[in-house]
Amino acid sequence: MKYTFLVLLLSFLISYAQGDPEKGKEIFAKKCASCHTVGGGKLMGPDLQGVIAKRDIEWLKRFIQRPSALIEEKDPTALALLEEYGAPMPDLDISDEEVEHLIAFLRAAEAGGTGKGGLPSLYIPTLIAALIVAGVLTFLAVSSGKKEVEVKV
Ligand code: HEC
Repeated sequence: MKYTFLVLLLSFLISYAQGDPEKGKEIFAKKCASCHTVGGGKLMGPDLQGVIAKRDIEWLKRFIQRPSALIEEKDPTALALLEEYGAPMPDLDISDEEVEHLIAFLRAAEAGGTGKGGLPSLYIPTLIAALIVAGVLTFLAVSSGKKEVEVKV
């Protein structure tokens, strides 16, 4: 019983830390697709296919949340993009959680083209994490002398 809370907490942390590509896709469609594609060519902004490999993840998160801050800091990559595209990307009020989902979506798109083909591979990290959690919980239960553990997810 006392592990149920732990499982819920861990699954929350895992899903938060990893972001959900499906949610990312929805956010992308709502807030980004007017200016960007992933693998469909340039619109007002760059095609974001390959951006995960090209840029540092922390930089990407900051750029997506507040492009204006990077321009103000005279970040060389942001300035080069601004020069290339002629117009700055607006600050879109993206929350910390939304940015994780967007990164997950971009990463998934990278792994499987536009996200149609490579779906199973998206879930491998989550699956591995879940297995580790289950393993740790079993170990805890066994070492504390219990025979079973209640895993409610
Ligand atoms: C109004 C149009 C517009 C919208 C909406 C928009 N962007 Fe952009 N984006 C741009 C432009 C223009 C650039 C390139 C110029 C610049 O850096 O400002 C850019 C650049 C980027 C880059 C940097 C690409 C690289 O090569 O490093 C990323 C990443 C990005 N956008 C992600 C997003 C995401 C994610 C969203 C949705 C939350 C979004 N953008 C919404 C116009 C937009």
